[in-house]
Amino acid sequence: MAVSGVLANVPWWKSGIVYQIYPWSFQDTTGDGVGDIPGILARLDHLCDLGVDAVWLSPVYVSPMADFGYDIADYRDVDPRFGTLADLDRLIAELHARGMKLIMDFVPNHTSDEHPWFLESSSSRDNPRADWYIWHDPAPDGGPPNNWRSMFGGIGWKWCEARGQWYYHAFLDKQPDLNWRNPKVVAAMHDVLRFWLARGVDGFRVDVIWHLLKDPDFRDNPPNPDWTPDEPEVRHILQIMTCDQPGVIDLVKGFREVLDEFPDKVLIGEVYLTIERMCAYYGEALDGAHLPFNFHLLMDPWKAEMIGWLIEEYERRLPPGAWPNWVLGNHDNARVATRLGPAQARVAAVYLLTARGTPTLFQGDEIGLTNGVIPPDKVRDPQEKNEPGLPGHDRDIARTPMQWDASPYAGFSSVEPWLPLVPGWETVNVAAESADPASMLSLHKRLIALRRKHPALSIGEVRVLTAAGDLLAFERSLDGERFVVAMNFGSELIETSVPAASGGQIVLSAKGGRDGEIVGKRLTLAGDDALVIAFG
Ligand code: NOJ
Repeated sequence: MAVSGVLANVPWWKSGIVYQIYPWSFQDTTGDGVGDIPGILARLDHLCDLGVDAVWLSPVYVSPMADFGYDIADYRDVDPRFGTLADLDRLIAELHARGMKLIMDFVPNHTSDEHPWFLESSSSRDNPRADWYIWHDPAPDGGPPNNWRSMFGGIGWKWCEARGQWYYHAFLDKQPDLNWRNPKVVAAMHDVLRFWLARGVDGFRVDVIWHLLKDPDFRDNPPNPDWTPDEPEVRHILQIMTCDQPGVIDLVKGFREVLDEFPDKVLIGEVYLTIERMCAYYGEALDGAHLPFNFHLLMDPWKAEMIGWLIEEYERRLPPGAWPNWVLGNHDNARVATRLGPAQARVAAVYLLTARGTPTLFQGDEIGLTNGVIPPDKVRDPQEKNEPGLPGHDRDIARTPMQWDASPYAGFSSVEPWLPLVPGWETVNVAAESADPASMLSLHKRLIALRRKHPALSIGEVRVLTAAGDLLAFERSLDGERFVVAMNFGSELIETSVPAASGGQIVLSAKGGRDGEIVGKRLTLAGDDALVIAFG
């Protein structure tokens, strides 16, 4: 969407809103029950109506789909399930024509075991790509070289007969890890970035960026004393030899240098880390990722005090000049409307879209989609298949199809979709919610419109006013424009004094029905409500 005024001088990825599209589940046009790029093209009006600025597209590259596209067999082409390279070029052009950007997913930690690089690397010990993956001789007993585990359960090593060696895979054995200590790998992947940047993409979301390097001495990971049996097996050990290794930031800086060969691109990095470690990925001179993903709304308890602390801790730890970001949902985690419940999901939407920092919105969260209900015979997620039944482990629940209208298969497809629709889709869909001013979709549209209209809400400063009990109140301000956001994390009425809010006018409430009210000396906030209060 076009920007003007003070925002015109701010990079688009600071003032804008990112919307994640999971291509498997956005819109099917070919009648195979799986979404595709022509489907995305057919639904661009939804993105315009919503008012988002950029699409982050989960992988659409050629892939055997063992991990739903995060196992890439060709980094330079589109998987036929999703369409063609020409379709993707059209998507870039059509998004640009509407003032929107396209952020591609980039998966550098591993390839598919069907990628030609791996086929060659695994064929012998002395082929030209012998050192492109993480190979190791067996332990003295012939077993795997150390105790490294796969994130998806089981040992992280697979035996290769042709080489008489093991290879390491942080995820599936069909996703061998590349050897990022090999400069040829670095150069080849930089060329992949250039290939897409030259086609006009506006940036990358880099998959598991904190995994890229592993301990060069292959030392064991130590046991995790806090592991409990309801957690995935990989948490048995602390990943201190396999993640967030010294030197990994230099690889991030290398990506950034390539992006900087082109104007106005964004580098987003996936990092599930503490705020302190996450902030390291900006680079000391802001020469790393523009936005290392902040997943703390997904990882930490949804409590007023916690979120107040997070805001302040984040602001304290950000390197000078670094720009924050917030994420409420993605294709790897339970849906926010289920995690927090439908009422608090509205409060959380108010937070996401009034927070200081670029918001990333996951498709379906704008209509309040809850977790899918996946019968055992319909499970597709390899993580769930390997370690069934662990709480919060099944990722299919967040990947169910978009629900567009009340027609058969919710307008997503003409046939049964690859994953089931969420029960209640006849009313929880874009068409029904567009017609209802009280819907989750209408709330999102109003919040986004407000954020777009008032730069204080996007690029302004933030100050936490109070974070105690069930109340979080914070202020956003810029050039004399000021807002107070007050959120009730509980279901009881709060009546209190928030001096910074008094005299302001309510311009939006999560529950509705309070627009135009002037806040007096006392602030009343219904249970599960959040208010945006404007001054001046
Ligand atoms: C993170 C991605 O978001 C997830 O879906 C994938 O399984 C892993 N990385 C491995 O690529």
